[in-house]
Amino acid sequence: MRSMGIGIVAGAMALRAAAGTVSLETLDLKLMSGGWGRAIANQAVTTNPLSIGGKAYDRGIGTHAPSQWVLALDGKAAEFRAEVGVDAQVKPGQPGSVEFLVIAGETEIWRSGVMKAGQPAKSVRVPLAGVKQLILEVSDAGDGRSHDHADWAAAEIDFAGEPPKAIAAPAVPEEEAVILTPPAPKSPRIHGPKVYGARPGKPFLYRIPATGERPMVFAAGGLPAGLDLDPQGGIVRGTTPPRGDHKVTFTARNAHGTAERTFTIVAGDTLALTPPMGWNHWYTHYNRITDATMREAADVMISSGMADHGYQYVNIDDCWMNAPAVGKYQRDPKRIGAERRPDGTIQPNTYFPDMKGLADFIHAKGLKAGLYTSPGPLTCAGFGGALGHEAQDAKTFADWGYDFLKYDWCSYGRIAASGSPTDPAIPAWDKGPPTLAGYQYPFRKMGELLKRQDRDIVFNLCQYGMGEVWRWGAEVGGHSWRTTGDLGLERASRLPGFYSIGLRNAQLHEFARPGAWNDPDYILIGWYGNAHGLREPEKAPLTPNESYSYMSMWSLMAAPLFFSGDMSKLDAFTVNVLCNPEVIEVNQDVLGKQARIVRQTDTELVLAKPLEDGSVAVGLFALGRGRQTIAVSWKELGVAGPRRVRDVWRCADAGTADGEWKADVPRHGVSFVRLVPGGARP
Ligand code: GLA
Repeated sequence: MRSMGIGIVAGAMALRAAAGTVSLETLDLKLMSGGWGRAIANQAVTTNPLSIGGKAYDRGIGTHAPSQWVLALDGKAAEFRAEVGVDAQVKPGQPGSVEFLVIAGETEIWRSGVMKAGQPAKSVRVPLAGVKQLILEVSDAGDGRSHDHADWAAAEIDFAGEPPKAIAAPAVPEEEAVILTPPAPKSPRIHGPKVYGARPGKPFLYRIPATGERPMVFAAGGLPAGLDLDPQGGIVRGTTPPRGDHKVTFTARNAHGTAERTFTIVAGDTLALTPPMGWNHWYTHYNRITDATMREAADVMISSGMADHGYQYVNIDDCWMNAPAVGKYQRDPKRIGAERRPDGTIQPNTYFPDMKGLADFIHAKGLKAGLYTSPGPLTCAGFGGALGHEAQDAKTFADWGYDFLKYDWCSYGRIAASGSPTDPAIPAWDKGPPTLAGYQYPFRKMGELLKRQDRDIVFNLCQYGMGEVWRWGAEVGGHSWRTTGDLGLERASRLPGFYSIGLRNAQLHEFARPGAWNDPDYILIGWYGNAHGLREPEKAPLTPNESYSYMSMWSLMAAPLFFSGDMSKLDAFTVNVLCNPEVIEVNQDVLGKQARIVRQTDTELVLAKPLEDGSVAVGLFALGRGRQTIAVSWKELGVAGPRRVRDVWRCADAGTADGEWKADVPRHGVSFVRLVPGGARP
């Protein structure tokens, strides 16, 4: 307590109802959380002297993002002051970047903006009258925590009355995992997209997604020649009819009733007319994936009801092929060996003894099979890539029967930089900065090869958004493209990582359209693996409301819906989040529009997606620290007149609204509604 001139312990009693200035490093720093090391008084987190932008400080606090500290005040404190920045121990050019936040109760009262190494300190000086809780936070500024050494130098509070006290951060309120999705009725309901793109003359496979009690009998009116329906399984197979729109009427009948739905097969050049839906192994099984696990996932896609809601692709990610050598992710000798057979064919590892048999198994259920490789010599996990064998691999994948390819940049970076003797046409960057042609080359090449195959293969570009892939992904043959880095590696600051990934993806709304989707990575709810330790599955660190927000955001963003959690640990709550027919209907809408951002602040996000029937799907997302009322006006939405409000998660009407829609939204939750122009819901 500097101005009091007395020691903190001896003076504690004497300070009551006094006034003075407290140097914050004298308070309990054990209660300050941090992403590395521990918060320390009068030193940087590395124990070096405190220094920001060349200026040394003799007092203050060194911490590491993400960091949080909660101080209890009595409402009579006058002012908080500090000098903040990245500690000088981090050198310019190193990745350290942080953002300092000062929060009074639930309201953010100061934010530093992103600060990097070498930058001079920023001064913060904020009044505290009436404030009872002050939170000092440092976020990783969205790029991970590496080198995020953060200093609150010369941090102090002028108080009058009770001196400030550090307290334990309040625990996140317990939330009950309420299941909002009503159980599917026993009578049949047909789900899934209303349009489906396929190429004339190629193999056709479609399992009609339908809920309701089995046995169920299916029929398809107007089915074009060349296609057959299995009436028990509801699976349409055969050869895609000639170019044009073929309108089919599906019916499903059981002991409780009949359902009907029209379905248009658009025979042409465009696949994925609605966002692809399925499961991908990566975030649960990593380098432990086996043929048996893939088959189990296909079984569960049926038994859990996911397929009855439109989930279709069962996709193998990395690590199915041989790795040439031991490495970080490939230590298992059963996955190490020759990358190719003598004839050059790619060699799956011993856990995948029969790639064609696996695809056949998946197809027998009416589902589709997906695969992964890299245009580089190695995949991201160090397994054999496609470089120099692209044409052969495309043909092998098609011959095996795969319907989806994720093509992951990974080690191609080296090739892009310096070229490759196997393909002199590769535009190398060694004489300059990366070029658009260089980014596009490997994808265009594979895109063209896939088009030449005798089956439809949906092409997912995985290169994390480089060269603004959303502007050209479709042109090089892609049907979807990852817009960001790996969601599973995104380190949360105040909000879970899916928000920052989702918010970046949300900016790109104008680029999504039928056959061309922005891909913000997979849905990580329920149980999944651990991206860093490659450990066994654990429960997603999300509250129930955050899980609802995640799925709502992906639905509104017309994102591909790929669950990547553990199919063997699907609980009722997770299935309820994944399998809500009205949430999926918004995602699969025929217009193929991605929601635009109507409003985005630190505490609110409003997304709006126009739908085919003239309604608009709206998500009001609460990003603040507690329950919030969020409103959106018709003016902001560009609509007029009264609207029927459909509560999408509850699949129930919620009255009518005119002029605005306003909702009381729980912490990190969402109000997801469909505003339907007058008249009954179709
Ligand atoms: C990259 C991709 C992930 C996953 C891994 C596999 O990190 O972005 O989605 O495919 O590679 O190694």
